[in-house]
Amino acid sequence: MTNKFHLAYFLTDSHAQAWGTAWGGNIGRDWALPDLYVAAARELERACFDYVLIEDNVFVADAYGGSMDVYLRNGLSVPRRDPLMVAPYMLQATRHIGIVPTISTFAYHPYQLARLVGSLDQLSQGRAGWNVVTGSSQRALQNFGHSGMEEHDKRYDIADEFVAAANALWDSWDVDAVVADRRGGVLVDPAKVRVPDYKGEHYSTRGPLNSGPSPQGRPVMAQAGSSGRGRVFAARHADTIVVKAKTLDYARQYRKEVRELAASEGRDPDSIKLLLMIAPIIGATREEAELKRQKRDADDLAAAELTLAKVSKIVDIDFSRFPLDEPLDPTGLKTEGTRSVLADFIARNAGRTLRQAGAIALAYNPDNTNLAGTAEDVAAEMVEIMQHVGGDGFLITGQTTRHFLAEVADGLVPALQDRGVVRDRYRAGMLRENLMEF
Ligand SMILES: Cc1cc2nc3c(=O)[nH]c(=O)nc-3n(C[C@H](O)[C@H](O)[C@H](O)COP(=O)(O)O)c2cc1C
Repeated sequence: MTNKFHLAYFLTDSHAQAWGTAWGGNIGRDWALPDLYVAAARELERACFDYVLIEDNVFVADAYGGSMDVYLRNGLSVPRRDPLMVAPYMLQATRHIGIVPTISTFAYHPYQLARLVGSLDQLSQGRAGWNVVTGSSQRALQNFGHSGMEEHDKRYDIADEFVAAANALWDSWDVDAVVADRRGGVLVDPAKVRVPDYKGEHYSTRGPLNSGPSPQGRPVMAQAGSSGRGRVFAARHADTIVVKAKTLDYARQYRKEVRELAASEGRDPDSIKLLLMIAPIIGATREEAELKRQKRDADDLAAAELTLAKVSKIVDIDFSRFPLDEPLDPTGLKTEGTRSVLADFIARNAGRTLRQAGAIALAYNPDNTNLAGTAEDVAAEMVEIMQHVGGDGFLITGQTTRHFLAEVADGLVPALQDRGVVRDRYRAGMLRENLMEF
């Protein structure tokens, strides 16, 4: 008997990039409108997903070839709307699904963030979260007037404090502080509101929040720390951790480790749901799925340079400096950006040319899976993967078109529901309750 597992969706910037593809619709014209975000939220709620994680970063890259051109021409993470602005549209159009915008800590003060995400939690009756990222690009830092980026582990130390300050603010109100006692003429019970007066090395905030209590107490926190320090950060704070795993053994080991880390931080490991990122290919038949897979591989090879430009942006290394059709020499490659992506990139591509490496650089499926087939095939494989990894679910991603959303909501999810392994209706009200349901 397989335990139930959770489903979430990673809404990446591929939505703007879909403009030139077969099912890209009118996104080249409609990219600024909220419609596709709203459609995604509705479709994924129909499929009873726990949440949608909205990707973000706050800069136009020029890491590849020292120029913005490749990024602008091809719509690589630009133009993109602020997830905190998109989230209310998605929440307004739905009743159950959680919406988790990515928020860079360096771009906010904890008070401002606690107020924004707390307000979102109130307006959605407890369906808001935040995906905490600490920033990995000089360009993003420069947009906020900072001259340089702190060293990798130090960024997590600072983010620890950021989270502590935000939590202190959310905790400054009891959830039931608004008593609305007509007879006594009391709206808010002053005994249920405190001044946290948080003082840290990097952040201080007096509080309390003036926005009032959040329905979930603290909104749900998502994280994706992969490095040693990142794992500690995630295990310490996150309600849900998203992981990109090179292999299934890696995913199983990662889960075991963050659960142990959580326990050593005094947390119940079952209070953290770890979701494995996958990008399934779903066809009406196996033949169709195989054709789609071949096309994706061919497209990826043709777009290898674009993918390298994306990796350059993530790791802050200019790959245009290296010959495309020779094996990459990893000696001396170092990053203050996203270390795990660089390590994975190097490990995955031993012996491959840079072009070949680029073609598969952002492959989301673990190497030892074949997540291409009919909905039944993919569902069966997902069940096997969960048995191997141990839990707690999947973060599904792909090129976000209405076509792909329908493949997921009308094909894959019903096949999983038939197997009794995912939710077929929402039972709880708030996002954390849904995450804790099984
Ligand atoms: C599924 C997933 C989604 C992520 N989304 C974002 C994002 O939207 N913005 C961002 O700057 N980083 C994002 N990251 C990167 C992580 O925040 C983190 O930097 C990365 O996992 C590396 O962690 P490390 O620095 O501890 O190695 C994401 C990572 C994963 C696996």
